[in-house]
Amino acid sequence: MKSILRLTLNGRAREDLVPDNMLLLDYLREIANFTGTKQGCDGGECGACTVLVDNRPRLACSTLAHQVAGKTVETVEALATQGRISRLQAAFHEKLGTQCGFCTPGMIMAAEGLLRKNPDPSRDEIKTALAGNLCRCTGYVKIIESVEAAAGACCQEAAQ
Ligand code: FES
Ligand code: FES
Repeated sequence: MKSILRLTLNGRAREDLVPDNMLLLDYLREIANFTGTKQGCDGGECGACTVLVDNRPRLACSTLAHQVAGKTVETVEALATQGRISRLQAAFHEKLGTQCGFCTPGMIMAAEGLLRKNPDPSRDEIKTALAGNLCRCTGYVKIIESVEAAAGACCQEAAQ
């Protein structure tokens, strides 16, 4: 069975015919063509599929697409504006918070959700916010430093 899914995705209202049992992750990648959201474990363990739903991080691999009906969904593609990456994205680049990059969209969306709620997080608060996101490359220190570097500037952007 398919039915119409209405939502706001990356700033744009959409209506799509979506199978009732389709995961949000598959909807984003296969129907909406926002492939920045990654499929890692596909079982709620790695955080690679993290997106924001009404400003709060959520695992797209553990959410049915129709569960976000009427909500505002943001993927990593939403963060760049007018061709310019966000302060948080730039911080990951400058502070070497990304290596192979597979975990990076999920890390950035989890961090973005934290910074919108808490503009000046402590190191422990950053660690807690990213606890569900796994990285095989960086050892995590550079990721935490990236979020610390973006704190403040990132939230001024979000408040605008
Ligand atoms: S792909 Fe969703 S948590 Fe790993
Ligand atoms: S940068 Fe490679 S998995 Fe995180």
